[in-house]
Amino acid sequence: MMFTLIHTVHLLAAFVYGGFLFVDILFLQKMQKSLPAEDGAKCREAIMAHVRKVVPYALFVVVGTGIYMFPHVFGHVGEDGLNHMQMVLLIKAFLGLWLGIRGFNQKIFKIDPWLFKSHYFPFTLVVIIIILSQIMWAV
Ligand code: HEM
Repeated sequence: MMFTLIHTVHLLAAFVYGGFLFVDILFLQKMQKSLPAEDGAKCREAIMAHVRKVVPYALFVVVGTGIYMFPHVFGHVGEDGLNHMQMVLLIKAFLGLWLGIRGFNQKIFKIDPWLFKSHYFPFTLVVIIIILSQIMWAV
C-alpha cells in the first residue's frame, strides 16, 4: 500500500515537473518571442514567479520518492550480474539524480548549472527518463 502511494506521488510530481518543461519549451518561449521584448519579459516573469514556488519542489518530490522506491524495485543482483531491468533502472536513476542535484544546487544554493544551461537539457532528460521508465520492464 505504501509503495503504491509513493509510486503515485512520484508519477504526479513527475507530471508537474515534466509538464512545466513541456509547456515552457512548446509554448512559453514562443509566446515570449511573439511579444515585444519588454512585454515578453514581463509575461514570462509573471509566470515564472509562480513556477518557482512549485516546480523545483515537485522535482525534489520526484527524486525523494524515486530514492524510496529504488531498493524495492531494483531487488538483488543475481550471480549472472545485473539483469536488463536493473541496468535500465540504474541509468534512469542516474539521469534523475543528475536533474535532482542540478535543481537542488540551483534552488537551495543559488548555483546555476555549469553545463547545458537551457531548459532543453532537462526537457530531453525527462523524455529519456519517461521512455526508460516505460521500457524497463519490457527489455
Ligand atoms: C525527473 C526525474 C524523474 C522522472 C521524470 C521520473 C519518472 C518516472 C515515471 C514516468 C515512472 C513510471 C511510473 C509508471 O509508469 O507507473 C517512474 C517510476 C519509477 N521511478 Fe522515476 N522518475 C524520475 C526520477 C527517479 C529517480 C531519481 C529514481 C531513483 C533514484 C527513480 C526511481 C523510480 C522507480 C524505482 C520507479 C518504479 C518503477 C516501477 O515499479 O514501475 N525515479 N519514474
